This record gives sequence, structure tokens and C-alpha cells, in this order.
Amino acid sequence: MTYRLSIVPGDGVGREVVPEGLKAVRAAAEVTGSFDFETVEYPWSCEYYAAKGVMMDADAMERMRDSDAIYLGAIGFPGVPDHVSLWQMLLPIRQQFDLYINLRPIRLLPGISGPLRDRGPEDVDFVCVRENTEGEYCGVGGRIRAGTPDEVVTQTAIFTRKGTERVLRYAFDLAQTRDKQLVSCTKSNALNHSMVFWDEITQIVAADYPDVSVSTQHVDALAARMVLNPQQLDVVVASNLFGDILTDLGGALQGSLGLPPSGNLNPEGTFPGLFEPVHGSAPGRAGQGTGNPMAAIWAASMMLDAIGEPEAAALIMGGLEAVALGGPYTKDLGGTARTVDVGDAVAAAIRAS
Ligand code: IPM
Ligand code: MN
Repeated sequence: MTYRLSIVPGDGVGREVVPEGLKAVRAAAEVTGSFDFETVEYPWSCEYYAAKGVMMDADAMERMRDSDAIYLGAIGFPGVPDHVSLWQMLLPIRQQFDLYINLRPIRLLPGISGPLRDRGPEDVDFVCVRENTEGEYCGVGGRIRAGTPDEVVTQTAIFTRKGTERVLRYAFDLAQTRDKQLVSCTKSNALNHSMVFWDEITQIVAADYPDVSVSTQHVDALAARMVLNPQQLDVVVASNLFGDILTDLGGALQGSLGLPPSGNLNPEGTFPGLFEPVHGSAPGRAGQGTGNPMAAIWAASMMLDAIGEPEAAALIMGGLEAVALGGPYTKDLGGTARTVDVGDAVAAAIRAS
């Protein structure tokens, strides 16, 4: 089996970490001997925008559509407003490829010291299922009478029954494969339309999963619980914006934002999934070769899992865990290693396994 991967390194440290993730995929392919892959790299980025006036070519979606997965570094660079770069690239890919699940594991790897005084790797191990195509991120809204005292701005959150039901169903399915504990993130005390609806759908879907114990918690209280009692969490399901915020907090619980990965999935497999680190392009630190590639490598593992190579995915996780335990570490984790040193060490650990 030869997979076709669309590679979009993007901007900043994205370009530095993507090659390290591909090194890990190469090593895992060689060790398992069960698959091969070819890559098509696209230059779409803020630099591309500066030269061509667009973040991606008009036929970008067509070109990526036939690939088995998209592997992305990071998007964003000073000079192009973030809402322009993201609304011309990452967010349209998520929406047009109907990548309605954004899966984000939150796991403190042994060897990494997290920020919580009394909590270690055995306490921080859960998954956030973030809705990824609608909600607060649907892009619906407008602005009239700009710059005048009568200016009006709207940003409308859209919750469809289909969109809400399918993300909840996915989360219940996932909970069934884990500890059968699901927390549905809400804010129905204040958001009396959207989140009351979200809670209703949670209850309707729950009826099909009598073996899963589900509770509902307001996002503010859930944020506090992630810090105070992360060991109580197993699967968390959240709307787009809430999931976005909670997973940066989750990244912090993992000891560094250089660690958390993200899988944007179309579970039906109609479109290729997109795999990326949660972290951004870190323009201030780009070009130094010192960014942590672990999130990108972890995302590569998620990608192999999603395309049907769980053994290779597990090998990459094993390599990552070995390096988490023994180093080398980049600056964010208190070390002096360079991006390539960590990538080489993970690849070597994969080959040694
Ligand atoms: C993420 C990022 C994006 C998001 C931004 C860059 C639009 O923060 O993947 O979490 O909010 O979805
Ligand atoms: Mn985010």
C-alpha cells in the first residue's frame, strides 16, 4: 500500500517541524514494512500570499482531495492578518472537507514535568472531541456603519441538529472504547438557545449509549476542573470555540504547547483528514531551528492511525515516549536540543524498537 500525503508546511516553525514528523513516518514505514508513502508538498502560506495575493491556489482543494491525508505545519505570519490567512486556508479546509471532528489527546507523557504541583502522567490522560465545522466558527456575521457611532457587528454561532448530533455521537463512540465516561461541555446557563439545544441533543444521543456515563458541565467550571482534577476526565466533547480554548489549556497541562497534536477528521472518510500540531507558527522563534517537533510528530502518529496503519502509529508514539522520558529536549522543555536533534532521536528510537 502506498499512501499519498499532501504536505503543507505553511509558515514559521511549521516548516521546521514538518520534516521531523515525516522522518518519523519514514522510520515507521521501514520498520513495519507494511506500507509506503509519497508526498506532494504545497507552498501555500503567508509568504505565498505576499507573492501571489492568495493563501492557496484556486484548485487547492481539488488537488488535495484525492490524497489519503493532509499534514500541515502551521499558518500565520506577521504582515498577513490572522483572520485573513486562516479564513483563506485552515478554516475553509476544515469546512469544505467536512472535517467535523477535531480530536485532541491531552496526555502528560512520562518524563515531562507538567505545571500542576500534585498531578502527574497518571492524572492527565484524556481526549477532547472538538466540533470543527460550525458553532462559533461558522463565519456568519457582518458589520454595518463601520467606524460610526452607530456601528453594528454580529458574529453568529450556528448549531445544526446534524452537526451537533454527529459530534456527540462520535464522542460517545470514543467513550465506549475508553473508560465510558463522557463530559459534555456546555454553557446553557447563559447561552439559552445554542447550549440548551446542545444539552438536549446530548441527552437524546445518550439514550443510545446506556453503558456510557455522561455528565454535562459548564465550560468555565470545566476549565477549573481540568486544572484541579484532570484525573476525573476521560472524554470531553465541546463546541468549536470552547474546544479550542480548553485544548490550549490542555496543551499547557501537557507541559508545553510544543506537545499537543490535533487530528481534523471526516470519520466517513469522504475527504482526507488534516493533521497538525495544536501550536501556531511562532513567528518570533521561527528560523532558529529550536522549536519542539514533538507535537508535529505526535500528529503524524494520529495521521497513520487514521489512514489505517495503527502499528506504525504506535511505533511513532513509542519513539516519542522514549524521547519524552530520556531526551533530548528542546528549549521549551528545559533543554538545548535543536528541532532536528529531537526528530532524529525519535526516528532512531522507532528504528530501535
Ligand atoms: C487551533 C487554532 C485555530 C483554531 C486557529 C488558528 C484558527 O487555534 O487549531 O486550535 O482556533 O481552530
Ligand atoms: Mn487553538
